[in-house]
Amino acid sequence: MNQDKWWKKSVVYQIYPKSFQDSNGDGIGDLNGIISRLDYLQNLGIEAIWLSPVYRSPQDDNGYDISDYQDIDPMFGSLADMERLIVEAKKRKIRIMMDLVLNHSSDEHFWFQEARKSRENPYHDYYVWRDGEEGILPNDMRACFGGSAWEWVPEVGQYYFHQFSIKQPDLNWENPKVRQEIYRMINWWMEKGVGGFRLDVIDVIAKEPDKKVTGNGSRLHEFIRELSRETFQKGDLITVGEAWGATPELARLYSNPDGSEFSMVFQFEHMVLDQQPGKDKWDLAPLPFLKLKEVLGRWQTELHGCGWNSLFWNNHDLPRIVSRFGNDKEYREISAKMFAILLHGMQGTPYVYQGEELGMTNAPYEIEDYRDIELLNCYHERLEQGYSKEEIMKSIHTKGRDNARTPMQWDASANAGFSTGTPWIRVNPNYAEINAASQVNDPDSIFSCYRRLIGLRKEYDVFAEGSFRMLMPEDESVFAYVREDESHELAVICNFFGDEAACPVLKDYASWELLAANYAKNGASEVLRPFEARMYIRRK
Ligand code: GLC
Ligand code: CA
Repeated sequence: MNQDKWWKKSVVYQIYPKSFQDSNGDGIGDLNGIISRLDYLQNLGIEAIWLSPVYRSPQDDNGYDISDYQDIDPMFGSLADMERLIVEAKKRKIRIMMDLVLNHSSDEHFWFQEARKSRENPYHDYYVWRDGEEGILPNDMRACFGGSAWEWVPEVGQYYFHQFSIKQPDLNWENPKVRQEIYRMINWWMEKGVGGFRLDVIDVIAKEPDKKVTGNGSRLHEFIRELSRETFQKGDLITVGEAWGATPELARLYSNPDGSEFSMVFQFEHMVLDQQPGKDKWDLAPLPFLKLKEVLGRWQTELHGCGWNSLFWNNHDLPRIVSRFGNDKEYREISAKMFAILLHGMQGTPYVYQGEELGMTNAPYEIEDYRDIELLNCYHERLEQGYSKEEIMKSIHTKGRDNARTPMQWDASANAGFSTGTPWIRVNPNYAEINAASQVNDPDSIFSCYRRLIGLRKEYDVFAEGSFRMLMPEDESVFAYVREDESHELAVICNFFGDEAACPVLKDYASWELLAANYAKNGASEVLRPFEARMYIRRK
């Protein structure tokens, strides 16, 4: 059952290990580096860490291509380091969530190495194969990172299916042996004390390539219920599925209060609005603000009492929110706090992505400075398709995944305190100004704003349980809503833009207690300043 779960009043912090903290000077973040920063995270108040993959991997897609699910990549440390991280985190009341990449493995995984040897090999059927002739593809399906979704293997005279890179062959969930292997592996991690899991692209595991179906395949929820029953349900875990194709209706299955699937899912409806409809993320479009309100409001009301939301603006695949919808120049601090207040007042479990609590920004680099496979593939593909370099770089600066993957900015020393060596990816040059050291003890910093919001969620039940009502849904500048439970009413009122905004309803809340705000002095009673955010509460 998912009722009264600890994760309803908790906040999760996502770590992208490669870029968080390097402990041995090789320029790559590692597990010992994370251990050395646990006090920082405890101080922030988070209660779970979602670790992007640290398993053994050739790093074709930064660890989302796993060659051994039961070992740690030497670049990040050892299994003993992982066990120590779990113990050290537990001492600070923090649980470790691992990233489960179950749709595909690396092509260097033992299973695939065997599978590609012959059609008779016992592992052959662990992957998705179609007969064919070299050069005649089974169909025209495309991989998410560009190119065909089919790759020819002469030894077996067949094509294998890959939704992501060539080095990420899709696992065959139709094969019960594959599912059993996966459950065994998950239970093994649970015995090691792992407190939860994030399930990578879980909505595409039940693919049906002959029907060109990837997302929401007909057996998807059957597979997930079996997975949950065989693993997670045996412990008090937090589980979150990544589901780009989720609708509120599907999310009510994924996050069913009976606990038969996951705790919650990441849905992305609010994260794909600033792109041209029917095209992909690189095809930029202005954010339709009223639509954003409609989407977030709908997810709030449609899951209330019958499901559970994940709340996020950022992750390792998305650009930084201050640079994306905010203003990362004159209003960087103010707008970063506005996004925090706006999101953390909603119902669901908030996720903070490393550096978000400092207002870290996008990285406007030259193409040589980027490392991400998706970004680099896009660059070359679009050059061939005749796009101009300027146009492509604009898309990359706006949407590229490396915007979120630059090293964590700890202090103003060399390499932002991330590494004593040469970082695997350039540090954002603004680290002298934007870093943790300058914010942790400043009561007015973005960090302190996040810490306050995380604490409030634990203090007042209305954050986890209250109903949701959007105020002024048609207003073109203000994002405002009210939450309510038996004992309290909570109001969150935000100006989403960099110009002053008239807001007559403000005066209705003037007598309530101000819980959080992003301007030091209380402003006018009917006008919001640029990106101004206020959170009010009153006892009923
Ligand atoms: C998810 C991950 C992303 C990865 C992809 C393939 O979307 O978040 O980083 O590249 O899955 O595993
Ligand atoms: Ca290292």
